[in-house]
Amino acid sequence: MPASPFIIVAIDGGAASGKSTSARILSERFNLLHVDTGSFYRAVTADLLRRGVAPADLPAVKTALASLKLGTRLNGRSAQMEVDGRVLEEEIRSRAVNENVSHFAAIPELRTALLAYQRGLADVARDHHFRGLVMEGRDIGSVIFPNADFRFFLQADPAERARRRASEGQQDSIAERDRLDSSRKTSPLTCPPGATSLDTTHLTLDQVVERLAGPIAARLAAA
Ligand code: DC
Repeated sequence: MPASPFIIVAIDGGAASGKSTSARILSERFNLLHVDTGSFYRAVTADLLRRGVAPADLPAVKTALASLKLGTRLNGRSAQMEVDGRVLEEEIRSRAVNENVSHFAAIPELRTALLAYQRGLADVARDHHFRGLVMEGRDIGSVIFPNADFRFFLQADPAERARRRASEGQQDSIAERDRLDSSRKTSPLTCPPGATSLDTTHLTLDQVVERLAGPIAARLAAA
């Protein structure tokens, strides 16, 4: 019997569009490595802020990036980024990070610094015998894995997304972050041609997961 194929699932969308929870459930259901790339941009942002680097100071950003030492730690089925050997857990959800992350994420040099790291997680998933990986972010289906087996783009009304963030107890100006993420020149948040777009505003979590899982299950059953 041939080995089952390694599959890559890309899920993009704005803040609180439902990406993270559904990606986590898919990772459990299909034994995929779960990769939340937003947490990577957040970890680098937290590290740069700690070093006193402002996003507007490009020379300082470039100097800091040159000495960035990134690693990966697995936490169950999730890949966590290590910066200088440390996983930055609580600080990546801080107000300062929320306010600055989109500004750092708009810097092309910073995105380039994370590109190979993100693609390399497919090898991490293979090495750890996952059946594939599910990676969520803003540019996964457009830039990181444009040939992914499945590319989904999730959307939801801004009011519903604000409600979801508030119910998580988080203070986050998601409308402003989405504006910055969608309008930047490098890898903006956009539904790439050929991706499957899904509006989650009026869907329950179970319904979102079923829409995403259906085609994956069908592909794996046919393999
Ligand atoms: O998914 P999140 O809200 O935790 O992401 C935090 C920020 O990181 C988001 O405002 C934009 C940036 N980001 C990005 O530019 N590209 C990605 N692939 C993931 C996140």
